[in-house]
Amino acid sequence: MTKPLLVAFDGPAASGKGTLASVIAADYGLPFLDTGLLYRAAGHLAHVRQIDPALAASLIDAETLADEALRGREAGERASRVAAIPEVRAALFKYQQDFANQPSGAVLDGRDIGTVIAPHAPVKLFVTARPEIRAHRRWLQLVKLNPALTEAEVLDDIRIRDERDSSRSSAPLEKAADALLLDTSDLGIDAAIATARSLVKSRL
Ligand code: CDP
Repeated sequence: MTKPLLVAFDGPAASGKGTLASVIAADYGLPFLDTGLLYRAAGHLAHVRQIDPALAASLIDAETLADEALRGREAGERASRVAAIPEVRAALFKYQQDFANQPSGAVLDGRDIGTVIAPHAPVKLFVTARPEIRAHRRWLQLVKLNPALTEAEVLDDIRIRDERDSSRSSAPLEKAADALLLDTSDLGIDAAIATARSLVKSRL
């Protein structure tokens, strides 16, 4: 029997990690978890129901995760605020760890997959890009929902979020020592996918 493959993708907002992680999951027929969605759901639910974020994290279900509002700018901002609360991270820990350790193997993307959720993952990629590049990509997505949004506003959001995610004491965004670095700043989508594929292969 071949060993189940576990792949951890981490990196800052709009680095391309979600797209790359889903391609690798499809390549190897592995289940894929976008862990950012869990934090987005916790922040959104806490806001809508005016409840404690850790309680909100414990109430997440398939219906909450399907809410279109989770894709918006406010949901990203709220996610990063509640993600700094240790009780929120604790409430989401077991679900993510169980997902990572399922017998089939798995691909997860987030901020602390290679460092906290699955430090034992044999394949870890840290995906990044320059802030201006990430802001442009994220603006292209968000402007469809909010035509008045400017690229400068998105760059401000990204810088604030980078700073908050990297400086928090609980599971900060950081590259695991054994993660391979993939900078997508100067890569188109096809080149980024090809590079991610060869980095994963290099660790198998
Ligand atoms: O798509 P984008 O990178 O903008 O954000 P996301 O992956 O949906 O994550 C939203 C926020 O959740 C991040 O800014 C982090 O603060 C938090 N997060 C986290 O702390 N740990 C994770 N494993 C995933 C997300």
